Amino acid sequence: PRLYIITPTYRRPEQIPELTRMAQTLMHVQNLHWLVIEDAENKTQLVSELLHRTGISHDHLVAPMPEAFKKRKGPKPRGVSNRNRGLEWLRANAKDGVFYFADDDNTYDIQLFEEIRTTKHVSMWPVGLCTKFGLSSPVVVNGTFMGFYDGWVAGRKFPVDMAGFAVSVQFLLQRPNATMPYKPGFEEDGFLKSLAPFEPKEIELKAKNCTEVLVWHTQSKKNEASAALDLTKYNNTNLVILKQ
Ligand code: UGA
Ligand code: MN
Repeated sequence: PRLYIITPTYRRPEQIPELTRMAQTLMHVQNLHWLVIEDAENKTQLVSELLHRTGISHDHLVAPMPEAFKKRKGPKPRGVSNRNRGLEWLRANAKDGVFYFADDDNTYDIQLFEEIRTTKHVSMWPVGLCTKFGLSSPVVVNGTFMGFYDGWVAGRKFPVDMAGFAVSVQFLLQRPNATMPYKPGFEEDGFLKSLAPFEPKEIELKAKNCTEVLVWHTQSKKNEASAALDLTKYNNTNLVILKQ
């Protein structure tokens, strides 16, 4: 089955390095179509060039966060407009296969993509977290799914990480109302609930019955953007010029 990878991204100093790392991972995976969706009005040319150079089958789309959410104080629904654009693309262009919401800054073991490929309806697996909780994962006892472990349960029916599940395209197409809500912290739960009828006990366990970590929710340190490179503006302590 074909894999559709839906990746939200946005302009920032880390964007090209993150996408380079992710692209060089995906270049090892066969039969994959990458939907790279920017939270922006227009496509970033450097992103287009990077995607073309990788040779990965892809579509480069844009889906800006609605102004109302951008202006709002407090947590923002990051990547939601992008992921919903990805779902819209699937509804218009895909008939079968499996899709996965893969943020641009996580760390993926290429074996994960082979696990995902066999998803019949909705599959789940552990996600490594670099926090004191260590991971977010389905809880499996003697091969039987018993519930979930997550650092922040917050009354969610599906207390899982965005990187911890995949869905079959046919399963999505049978649910025309499935969508991700603009609800910070509850995006995964809201989306998975919108797949009703679908219950936690129906999930397919991947990664050797959830005993292996094949993806980590990593985060890069945020950096300040550099000014456009103009050597005449730099203090001479930043320049070393060889003597003629
Ligand atoms: C966590 C979850 O893993 C995300 O899926 C969820 O959207 C996010 O929290 C949230 O609830 O806000 P986290 O690592 O904290 O992710 O968030 P980011 O990596 O900053 O953003 C998630 C994705 O959205 C990334 O692929 C990022 O490139 C994209 N994004 C972020 C945008 O498209 N626009 C933004 O303004 C910020
Ligand atoms: Mn992230």
